[in-house]
Amino acid sequence: MAANSRGPCYFASIMLLIFFLNTNLSLASSDSLSLGQSLSGNQTLISKDATFALGFFSPRDSGKFYIGIWYNELPGQTVIWVANRASPVSDPATSKLQISDHGDLVLLNSSGTPIWSTEPTPKASIAILLETGNLVVRNDSNSDVNLWQSFAHPTDTWMPGGWLGVNKITGEYQSLTSWKNPEDPAPGLFGESMDPDGSNQYVLLWNGSQIYWTSGLWTGSYFSNVPGTRESTVFDFNFIDNKQRKFANYTINDKSIITRFVVDSEGQGLQWYWLSSTQQWQTEFTQPLNHCDVYSLCGPFGICGAQSTESVCTCVEGFVPTSEKEWALNDWSSGCSRKSQLRCGSHDNEQGKEDGFLEMPNVGLPANPMSRNVSGDSYCREACLKNCSCSAYAFAGGGCSIWVGELRNLRQVYDDGGGNLYLRLAASDIPSSSNSHKKIIAVVLGSAAGVVVILLICFSLLLAYRRKKRAKALLKIETSLTQFSYGDLQRITKNFSEKLGSGGFGSVFKGRLANSAQVAVKTLEGVRQGEKQFRAEVSTLGAIQHVNLVKLHGFCSEGQNRRLLVYEHMPNGSLNSHLFHDSSSELDWRQRFQIILGIARGLAYLHEECRECIVHCDMKPDNVLLDADFNPKISDFGMAKLIGRDFSRVLTTMRGTIGYLAPEWISGQPITPKVDVYSFGMTVFEAVSGRRNTGNSADGDAAFYPSWAAKGVIEGRAMSLLDHRLEGAADLEQLTRVCRVACWCIQDMEDHRPAMGQVVQVLEGILDVSMPPFPASLENMMGNQQPSSMSHGEKNENEATTASVS
Ligand SMILES: *[C@@H]1O[C@H](CO)[C@@H](O)[C@H](O)[C@H]1NC(C)=O
Ligand SMILES: *[C@@H]1O[C@H](CO)[C@@H](O)[C@H](O)[C@H]1NC(C)=O
Ligand SMILES: *[C@@H]1O[C@H](CO)[C@@H](O)[C@H](O)[C@H]1NC(C)=O
Ligand SMILES: *[C@@H]1O[C@H](CO)[C@@H](O)[C@H](O)[C@H]1NC(C)=O
Ligand SMILES: *[C@@H]1O[C@H](CO)[C@@H](O)[C@H](O)[C@H]1NC(C)=O
Ligand SMILES: *[C@@H]1O[C@H](CO)[C@@H](O)[C@H](O)[C@H]1NC(C)=O
Ligand SMILES: *[C@@H]1O[C@H](CO)[C@@H](O)[C@H](O)[C@H]1NC(C)=O
Repeated sequence: MAANSRGPCYFASIMLLIFFLNTNLSLASSDSLSLGQSLSGNQTLISKDATFALGFFSPRDSGKFYIGIWYNELPGQTVIWVANRASPVSDPATSKLQISDHGDLVLLNSSGTPIWSTEPTPKASIAILLETGNLVVRNDSNSDVNLWQSFAHPTDTWMPGGWLGVNKITGEYQSLTSWKNPEDPAPGLFGESMDPDGSNQYVLLWNGSQIYWTSGLWTGSYFSNVPGTRESTVFDFNFIDNKQRKFANYTINDKSIITRFVVDSEGQGLQWYWLSSTQQWQTEFTQPLNHCDVYSLCGPFGICGAQSTESVCTCVEGFVPTSEKEWALNDWSSGCSRKSQLRCGSHDNEQGKEDGFLEMPNVGLPANPMSRNVSGDSYCREACLKNCSCSAYAFAGGGCSIWVGELRNLRQVYDDGGGNLYLRLAASDIPSSSNSHKKIIAVVLGSAAGVVVILLICFSLLLAYRRKKRAKALLKIETSLTQFSYGDLQRITKNFSEKLGSGGFGSVFKGRLANSAQVAVKTLEGVRQGEKQFRAEVSTLGAIQHVNLVKLHGFCSEGQNRRLLVYEHMPNGSLNSHLFHDSSSELDWRQRFQIILGIARGLAYLHEECRECIVHCDMKPDNVLLDADFNPKISDFGMAKLIGRDFSRVLTTMRGTIGYLAPEWISGQPITPKVDVYSFGMTVFEAVSGRRNTGNSADGDAAFYPSWAAKGVIEGRAMSLLDHRLEGAADLEQLTRVCRVACWCIQDMEDHRPAMGQVVQVLEGILDVSMPPFPASLENMMGNQQPSSMSHGEKNENEATTASVS
């Protein structure tokens, strides 16, 4: 082992000698830098067994160079520590890292000016890069006393063996501070440290003050909000509180696991581990789980979780990103700026109109209003208009609240947690019909005169009025949905010529909008609802937006027989087609895991985060679509309400759905979100195994697959359930977790099945999952080998029609 690892080090030092023989530098031993030596250009220190490297790096080739430590043997350059994070050098070849005569480790830039240093320590003579990734300064190479160490000055990463804490005597904290963005290691606004208020927990905070996540108090063996630290066999957390110091550290029991905890530039704390089978970093847990919970993530006047699914943050109406460049790097901290300055009461301004307010429905209101207890809309409005620094008002908690200055933490919500916020804007930034009429008149009158012009004016006014009226009506009822005419859809789909598929409720056709975006147009059959109710249901669906749910663009409703829905198009088709057909490209484990996690997140959103709980009722791989990057999106949610009464009958008589139906469908009990949990469990087993649950498989063994799978889980043979085409290339721990939770999902009793939110937490490693019991109804099925007869006991299929869809 020792001989083996010396090899590359020895080779590296020879290389360095060859390259730099003509300079005055030389590195005697490659894991350390002694007094009198220096490090420049592309020279590196390599730790003893070559796990870590230290040297100059340039994030994303930004042309700015920093001294950093990274994993030497992993592809990509994952940096765990940065020395001069806020003061880069431009030319590493002429910059030097060395131990100065004063006893500190110092970085000199090209003009020899010190731009970063450790605090001076007496008698320092050597800096050594250890196998843990810790850079230590010692008085000689045989000593093991650290005069200074990088673990005591972490940047954004908490390594195994490192610690977060506070020195009670000096008051100095060991805490993490995020990079500003992926291109700039300068301190960002997010950090993690021991609770500054002195309690025994650690917290995520914004700008050193605003706490937005806590680990929960130390219970004696774990932090209460991080259950993963409790029973984990991998992580070993310690919390030490003595007279001098209070800190937490952790070790990894299995030396083969490579892991690190990072507070990233988007404000989340992430435990990453290296998955060698995919050669990628994978998250073990994420804090806080909901990205929008990060304090001021979107900066002033940014809003989190709105409309666009591509970006977490967007600007509110009337505002634009303050820095396009930073926003492109997902660094939203500078927020948004007004397009037009507020006029603010100065009546002498010839630009005319008074500032106005834009109503923003369903917004999570920012904290800390300057509350005024006046009642009535006009008073609240006046109170805000009167003060130039007032930026918004709302009615919250029965009274009028006003906000002055910057608005932070705005978030779009889809449940009752939000309210209407009235945002103050310059009159020109308020989308208003009268405003645009004026513009049209001004432009046209200015250009010419005559009858033609007058006709034109009338015509354009009429058009604008109509468009406005229609848009307004749509805005009110259908939020962001577009209403299409049947003729529109005929054109878009080239007269319904390209069929993508068909299901129990109708067929799906491919179409192309005028802006060349591809859409999927679904015809609905058997909708018995009246116009008003249909529109209400469609608008509810249109308001539901989540990365793991297929987005509804619009609809058509021209009488009961011409009802269609227009969805975003998913280029990679259904999960179904990738799992069960040999011809299609095979999904690897990482993709399957991400798909399973995505489905769980989508369902959790439907069940727990929407305004009204939506039970999908028809969860199966056919209803999971994959986008260009193989991200899963659930389709066909909300059909139960759209179709109404006949839905359960459609389902239970439909071939191909039967294997996913929870026992309560058959037994006629009321339907709850737990039916989706059951179907999810079944879907997971199919995604893991690549084979259909219902047995009539070509390869002869007609046994009902899930019962065999459940048995496998309980007997600890998760690997044997994996699709044999993957040849065992999967993370066993992950696979075990997935299979166990799937087995919990298919329990007979609803109460025994987890909620989807819990499933997500298990998959993310936040919750542990215990060994599930064997679902009894599957036991029956093993005996009779009749996969398609889900009916158990004396109940029969006809009773399913009595199942009520709530
Ligand atoms: C190191 O830098 C020198 C000079 O800039 C260059 O010629 C050499 O290829 C570099 N070596 C490596 C391993 O990148
Ligand atoms: C070195 O740093 C000093 C102080 O920050 C600065 O004035 C000088 O321009 C830098 N030299 C180079 C070559 O960047
Ligand atoms: C380094 O420090 C240790 C303990 O503080 C001491 O015993 C040793 O003599 C020192 N070595 C040198 C070279 O100063
Ligand atoms: C954590 O700190 C304790 C107390 O100093 C120490 O005994 C233990 O070895 C440390 N664990 C790690 C992984 O550094
Ligand atoms: C962060 O806090 C400091 C004072 O502690 C303040 O000066 C600074 O403006 C704050 N940053 C932001 C972005 O609010
Ligand atoms: C406004 O009234 C509510 C209850 O009516 C009260 O709790 C609150 O403290 C009042 N706020 C101010 C600023 O007076
Ligand atoms: C506006 O409100 C702020 C906060 O209450 C206050 O400090 C300021 O004096 C007010 N300005 C005016 C002109 O009333």
